[in-house]
Amino acid sequence: MMLENKVALITGGASGIGAATVRLFRQEGAGVIVADCDADGGEQLASDLGHDVDFRVCDVTDEEQVVQLLQHIVTAHGRLDCAVNNAGIVGEPASIERMFLADWQRVLDINLSGVFLCLKHELEVMQAANSGAIVNVASGAALMAVPNMAAYCASKHGVLGLTRTAAMENARRGIRINAVLPGSIATPMLQRTLSRGGDVEQLVESSIPCGRFGRPEEVAQSIAWLCSDRASYVSGEALSVDYAATCR
Ligand SMILES: NC(=O)c1ccc[n+]([C@@H]2O[C@H](COP(=O)([O-])OP(=O)(O)OC[C@H]3O[C@@H](n4cnc5c(N)ncnc54)[C@H](O)[C@@H]3O)[C@@H](O)[C@H]2O)c1
Repeated sequence: MMLENKVALITGGASGIGAATVRLFRQEGAGVIVADCDADGGEQLASDLGHDVDFRVCDVTDEEQVVQLLQHIVTAHGRLDCAVNNAGIVGEPASIERMFLADWQRVLDINLSGVFLCLKHELEVMQAANSGAIVNVASGAALMAVPNMAAYCASKHGVLGLTRTAAMENARRGIRINAVLPGSIATPMLQRTLSRGGDVEQLVESSIPCGRFGRPEEVAQSIAWLCSDRASYVSGEALSVDYAATCR
C-alpha cells in the first residue's frame, strides 16, 4: 500500500475531491483526519466509512481552529506525515468592476489565507520531525485567466506561489510541498457552477479537450502519489490533472 501507516490530514474532506482523497488514503493504508466546516457532511462521510476516520469540524479561515486541529492531531495521532490542503470555494461570478469587496475577500480568505494558515501550522509539526509531504489543491485557474472569476483565479495563482515558496523554504528539512491543478472535475462544486445556467455549461464543456469531466478519484490518485514516498524527489511541482485542458 502506498500510504501504509502514514497519518494524513485532509481539509475540505467532506465532499468532492477531498472525500475521494479520504477514501483512497484509507485504502492505501493511511490513518486519516478529515477537517471540514460542514459538520453534517463530515459526520455522514465518517459514518459511511464505519467511523474509520477522525472527523473534526474546522473552518480553515480561523487560525484558532486550525491550531486546535493540529494540537488534536499531535495529541491523538502522535505525528503528521501528510497534509492535503483542499478546502475551497468558487465564489460569486462577476466581472472585476462588478465584484463586491466582500465576495473577493471571502474567496481569498478560504482559498489562499486558509491554505496559508494550514500550511503554517502543519509545517510547525512536520519541521519538528524533519519529514512530511504536503499537497495544496490549486486549479487550472492557477495558470490561466478565467473571466468572471478573478478572485478564484487570483487565489489559485497565489496557492501556486505559496506552494513553490514553501517547497524552497523546506527543501533541507525533509518536507516536500506540491500542488495539484485539477481541470473540470465532477463534484458538487462543479455541479453548483453548472446549475447557474446561461452559457456556463457550454463554456466549461468546450474547455475540455478529452470531452468528459474528470472524476474526483482521478485527482485523488495524483494527490496520493505526491504524498507517498514514491514521489520522494518531487517538490515545488504543479501537477495538472486536467487531460490537457491547460495545454491550449
Ligand atoms: N471541481 C472542480 O472542477 C475543481 C477544479 C479545480 C480545482 N478544484 C479545487 O478542488 C478543491 C475541492 O473542490 P471540490 O470540487 O471537491 O468542491 P466541494 O464543494 O465538493 O468540496 C469542498 C469542500 O471544502 C469545504 N470547505 C469550504 N470552505 C471551507 C472552510 N472555510 N473550512 C473548511 N472547509 C471548507 C466544503 O464544506 C466542502 O466539503 C477546491 O480547492 C477547488 O477549488 C476543483
